[in-house]
Parts: sequence; structure tokens; C-alpha cells
Amino acid sequence: MRLQDRVVVVTGSAGGIGQGLVSALLDDGAKVVMTDLDQGRLDVTAADLDPGGQRTLCVGGDLSSGKDIASIVDAAAGAFGRIDGLVNNAGAIVMDTAFDAKVDDWSMQLNVNVTAAFAMAQAVGRQMRENGGGSIVNVASNCGKDGYDNMAAYNASKAGVISLTRSLAREWAPVNINVNAVCPGGVDTPMLAAVADWLEPHIGVESGEILGGMNVTQLGRKIQPIEVGRVVAFLLSDHATIIRGQSISIDGGDTAY
Ligand SMILES: NC(=O)c1ccc[n+]([C@@H]2O[C@H](COP(=O)([O-])OP(=O)(O)OC[C@H]3O[C@@H](n4cnc5c(N)ncnc54)[C@H](O)[C@@H]3O)[C@@H](O)[C@H]2O)c1
Repeated sequence: MRLQDRVVVVTGSAGGIGQGLVSALLDDGAKVVMTDLDQGRLDVTAADLDPGGQRTLCVGGDLSSGKDIASIVDAAAGAFGRIDGLVNNAGAIVMDTAFDAKVDDWSMQLNVNVTAAFAMAQAVGRQMRENGGGSIVNVASNCGKDGYDNMAAYNASKAGVISLTRSLAREWAPVNINVNAVCPGGVDTPMLAAVADWLEPHIGVESGEILGGMNVTQLGRKIQPIEVGRVVAFLLSDHATIIRGQSISIDGGDTAY
């Protein structure tokens, strides 16, 4: 129980990787504030993971709104008295070629993936500073280290998350806030399925076959959300105090740095 009674906010936790994050954090003893744009799915997921509702709090909100971020942080601190951890997991992807991509789509991805992660970290970080410290994990992607086709904005946004992680780690070390990131490869979620659906007509390969090709090479399968959750739970814990400002590839060995 590395996170016994620690209060952790997880963004984008209505499903996908977020569900695996919440599940792993609950397994490690944490209380979890779940937040997402999709309040309906959020409530269903919370009821599934924490049937009594004793260790989770659901707060809907749009992270591109400063007002919603303030409400989420107020609700979390109000319900549990403090915030010990934050996982910036919410994210968005719009597939397109670099020739055809729209500037509005570029801005939306940068806004949700980097700007909202920064705004959330700032709001939660201020609370942590008051309470003696905490830990933050940003969910970046191996796309932020490599540059995959048809997702230039997403690649750039995740590189931004990696850079943000380094900056916050250095600047907030003196107030005992540890900041790291994880860079997953293909995780078995609706986002990955949507990428395959977009590719199908563009490369003329059936989406099921494309998904098969997204298996991590050394394991021959896709990463499961709970596997991301277990690494994040470790990084949030005191066992990871010596790991700081890192963006750790969790893609089954596909990105060897
Ligand atoms: N699935 C993968 O293969 C993969 C790989 C590497 C990194 N990631 C990253 O992991 C994170 C989770 O991805 P996922 O695969 O679970 O995707 P997902 O689409 O299933 O989940 C993303 C969640 O973020 C929420 N969200 C989006 N915009 C929001 C906003 N403005 N405010 C609040 N919530 C918002 C969505 O409602 C959704 O529930 C993302 O940051 C993604 O970029 C995913």
C-alpha cells in the first residue's frame, strides 16, 4: 500500500488508460479524484472500480477552461482536505497529414495535451506547496520522442509534455514536488482504435490488421491500461523519490531511451 490514504487527482479518467490508472491507484491504497469531460462515463467507471464510492470522487469538467480547473481542484481539496498527487492523463488526438492538418486542430491538441496539463499542474502544485509537497506524473507518449506519421500536432504536444516535465521538476524540487512523465506505446484503448480507423482508408489496410501491427515488438501484444497504472502508482510513491524530471518509455522496449 505505497499510496495509503494519499489523495490523487486523475484527469481523463472516464475510461481507457485513465481507468487503469484509477484501478492501480486504488489497489495501492490511494483515494482518487476522477475528472473528465464526459461526466456520464466517469460515473459509470467510478461505480465499477469503487462500488461503495468511499474512495473516489467524480468531478466533471473541461480542462481547457480555467474555471473548470479551479472547480475540480477546489472540489478535491474540499472533499479530502489535501491533494498529494496528480496524474495529467487527459489527452486528444486528431489524425491528419501535415499538408492537410487544420490549424484549429493543431491548437486544440496543444491546448488539451500541454496547456491544460500545465494549468492543472499549476493549480494543484500551489496546493501541494501549501501542504509540504507531492508528486505529479504526466502521461506523455513515445510519440513525443519519436515522430509518427499523420500526427504532427500530437507528436509536438507530447514533446511539449516531456519538456514541461523537466521544467516543473527543476523549479518545484525546492518545495518537495516531484514531477515525472510516462511515455506509453500502443495501449489497448478507444484512442488507439480511433487511430487505426483513421488509417484504414488512408493506407488501404483493414483497421484490425493495423491494430495487430501496433503490438509492442518484444511482447507481441498491446499494453494494457492497468500496466500503465502500476508504473504511474510507483512514480507517485515515495519509492520513486530518486527519479525526477524523467520521461520514462513504457512501450515494451520499442523506444530504447
Ligand atoms: N492509447 C494509447 O495508445 C496511448 C499511447 C500513449 C499515450 N497515450 C496518452 O494517454 C492518455 C489517455 O489516452 P487514452 O488512450 O486512454 O485515450 P481516451 O481517449 O480513451 O481517454 C482520454 C480521456 O481524456 C478526456 N478528455 C479529452 N479532452 C478533455 C478535456 N478538454 N477536459 C477533460 N477531459 C478531456 C476524454 O474525455 C477521455 O476520457 C492521453 O494523454 C493519450 O495521449 C495514449
